[in-house]
Amino acid sequence: MAAARMNLSCSIQSGIFSSLKPSSFFNFKPTHFKYRLYLPQSHFISSKRSMLCTCSSNNSNFQTGEKAEPFVVTTPLYYVNAPPHMGSAYTTIAADAIARFQRLLGKRVIFVTGTDEHGEKIATAAAALGASPSEHCDVISQAYKMLWKDLNIAYDKFIRTTERKHEAIVKEFYSRVLANDDIYRDDYEGLYCVNCEEYKDEKELLENNCCPTHLKPCVPRREDNYFFALSKYQKSLEETLAKNPDFVRPSYRLNEVQSWIKSGLRDFSISRASVDWGIPVPNDNKQTIYVWFDALLGYLSALLEENEQPSLQSAVSSGWPVSLHLIGKDILRFHAVYWPAMLMSAGLTLPKMVFGHGFLTKDGMKMGKSLGNTIEPNELVHKFGPDAVRYFFLREVEFGNDGDYSEERFINIVNAHLANTIGNLLNRTLGLLKKNCQSTLVVDSTISAEGQDFKDTVEKLVQKAHVHYKNLSLSSACEAVLEIGNAGNLYMDKHQPWSLFKQGGAASEAAAKHLVIILEAMRIIAIALSPVTPSLCRRIYAQLGYSDDQFNNLNWSETKWGGLKGGQVMAQPKPVFTRIEQIKETENGGEAAKKVVKKKEKKPQVQGVVEA
Ligand code: MSP
Repeated sequence: MAAARMNLSCSIQSGIFSSLKPSSFFNFKPTHFKYRLYLPQSHFISSKRSMLCTCSSNNSNFQTGEKAEPFVVTTPLYYVNAPPHMGSAYTTIAADAIARFQRLLGKRVIFVTGTDEHGEKIATAAAALGASPSEHCDVISQAYKMLWKDLNIAYDKFIRTTERKHEAIVKEFYSRVLANDDIYRDDYEGLYCVNCEEYKDEKELLENNCCPTHLKPCVPRREDNYFFALSKYQKSLEETLAKNPDFVRPSYRLNEVQSWIKSGLRDFSISRASVDWGIPVPNDNKQTIYVWFDALLGYLSALLEENEQPSLQSAVSSGWPVSLHLIGKDILRFHAVYWPAMLMSAGLTLPKMVFGHGFLTKDGMKMGKSLGNTIEPNELVHKFGPDAVRYFFLREVEFGNDGDYSEERFINIVNAHLANTIGNLLNRTLGLLKKNCQSTLVVDSTISAEGQDFKDTVEKLVQKAHVHYKNLSLSSACEAVLEIGNAGNLYMDKHQPWSLFKQGGAASEAAAKHLVIILEAMRIIAIALSPVTPSLCRRIYAQLGYSDDQFNNLNWSETKWGGLKGGQVMAQPKPVFTRIEQIKETENGGEAAKKVVKKKEKKPQVQGVVEA
């Protein structure tokens, strides 16, 4: 097996991000010379409130409820200035696990992802490579799609903000906001961070006016722009958050958002005179729509069906409102303040929840494309497979907090949990079953568990996992499922079925029942961990004698004890997860260079494995 060197170590920090004062975000001081915009009546939508859902402040839809409602989960739409890195993959992996869990519950899920393709930073990245913006977007957008495929991301909708249907939605939305008298023209002078695509308040900048996220100097800009009257929505936003504390999660991020709003909301500019690569402002093609105003609307345009005439009404009826926007904490203000205010202005229902997760970090800094300190997800996936990558990041980082990647920890966790606790337990149990029972279960799992505490333990842990998944505590959900594996290993060690088989007679019958118990636990693990490690769980399911179709149609209710029946024939034992081995290669200046390899797969040696 080819061994490749890996240079992926990075270190933990919570760093400078936590030291940013949230209140400073809203305190920029624009130089305003306001004048209202008057467009011909034909650009106004007449019966706008009757056409769509009501605004959320007095809206009963805000609560979850109606059974037929789909579960709509979104990732951010990723900038295509550079290919994806592990930080961007992280949100998508989490969204995929949540979507898979909801599908297991029997919900109709719409999982939305996509790419954010307009704006200055994309145009500059394309020019630097000698490509046109649209060629550049095609290439990078495709790179995202390929990574999602390699990571087993089962999205339902992929929206590109350069699609025509998206442009139609942006223009219609803009017109609705304009008709609501929430857009005006103004002069603006300030410091702009191109990487954030945002004017900054001087107070939040580092030395030399450097952006604290991207560590690059912000540039002075003076522009004549269109503004969105965010300040009008201050009170409604305050009320919405007070009434719906789950709108922003985790709760510590809600506090952050509330304090931003309390410190006073300022109107923000929603067009750029200096940027060509964007959607023209309706009735003023000298300006393009600000990339954030444009991109947020991707959550609506993504919902449109293929070949459907694009309109807000059809987008809304295809699944709005979103159940869960998953985002990183750096873009919380856009999603928890700007976005709801924009939706209120357009008379649309608010999303039900915005969850802001933490950062994956490297050397004390947020890992990011602009800083060039990223971990290459393709490298990780190709070396270790999608399950290891998905499992590590979801298990290791409590969803919401910042988290660390180190190669050593990655290998230790993945080997201990997936290769040993789960893979090895399954393999040695199937080995024993093959040797002693012709790979056939002797009895129903319900009967074999009679009088055993083990079944209760498993049921409690599955229930725990269910609660954690629902609550988006993905690491704790993984932990609960792994506990089933740990309990299974303890059970095996306690009952030592390999010795019982040697004794024959009643002991041998008891041993065969013990194997059924362990395999039933493995079946439950395969369902309960499938949102996180879908291919591994598919392999476990196949080892238990089930078809692909049976795996594809699983429902969470099948985690109930009793699925395996007597007479079911298991597959030939085959390792479901290969250990990653670290081999010390050379000593170089006192530092050991390591090779990281997947262990050679051995044919299972029943006795050896079992008794080791
Ligand atoms: N294009 C905007 C989002 C528009 S949504 C309508 C954008 N794109 S981004 O590519 O810069 O970032 C996308 C997501 O990746 C954000 O949620 C961001 O927080 C996340 N991450 C980028 N780097 C990250 C880490 N190092 N760690 C975890 N997530 C991080 O913002």
